Amino acid sequence: MRLFQLDAVEWLQSLPANSVDLVITDPPYESLEKHRAKGTTTRLKHSKSSSNDWFAIFPNARFVALVEEIYRVLKNNSHFYLFCDQETMFEIKPLAEAAGFKFWKPLVWDKCAIGMGYHYRARYEFILFFEKGKRKLQDLGMPDVLQEKRVWRGYPTEKPVPLIEKLIGQSSTAGQLVIDPFFGSGATLVAAQNLNREWQGADVAPSAHEHAAKRLKA
Ligand SMILES: C[S@@+](CC[C@H](N)C(=O)[O-])C[C@H]1O[C@@H](n2cnc3c(N)ncnc32)[C@H](O)[C@@H]1O
Repeated sequence: MRLFQLDAVEWLQSLPANSVDLVITDPPYESLEKHRAKGTTTRLKHSKSSSNDWFAIFPNARFVALVEEIYRVLKNNSHFYLFCDQETMFEIKPLAEAAGFKFWKPLVWDKCAIGMGYHYRARYEFILFFEKGKRKLQDLGMPDVLQEKRVWRGYPTEKPVPLIEKLIGQSSTAGQLVIDPFFGSGATLVAAQNLNREWQGADVAPSAHEHAAKRLKA
């Protein structure tokens, strides 16, 4: 149960092959820059409790290395969930498939209320659902639209813990290892801790470490 202040790919490279039961992550895509330049994400520019105004972007050119490392560290018969926007998903899906993953579908996170945007106000985000080998979901009755209200506690783009708990419950069992190589406020790791999973994560930003360390009993 450890937090690493390292680049995601470098950190993954340090992990043994076939050692992780579940990956849930949310990289900072290049497309965020585009939306930010247009001014539609201005509320994310300044984080009250963050030492930097915004976090570093992970360039699309590094996706191949990222998905190949995630595939390598995952055990056979495991799942990988990737929070993704509607532009980046078309780039990353074929690369993840080329790395060996089966792509099942995008899940929809319904935030239950409208947010920003001028061409239909944003109410959802995608979570791409990938599989290495074959693993059965715990609850075959769960729908592909997951409703959960946004959270805003000071870290940009924070995800709700109950949303991630659903994914962890579906794709792992108690004691298994869940990782997040871009942990941000630590939502994935908190959800893993709540459900008695082992957890590890990396993030380059000091502010992410400040946020996550407060929430986790590392
Ligand atoms: C979209 S946020 C993650 C938010 C997180 N899911 C949450 O619920 O709080 C992306 C994170 O990736 C981190 N990051 C950016 N470049 C990185 C890199 N090369 N390696 C690891 N982390 C990186 C940023 O510091 C930021 O905290």
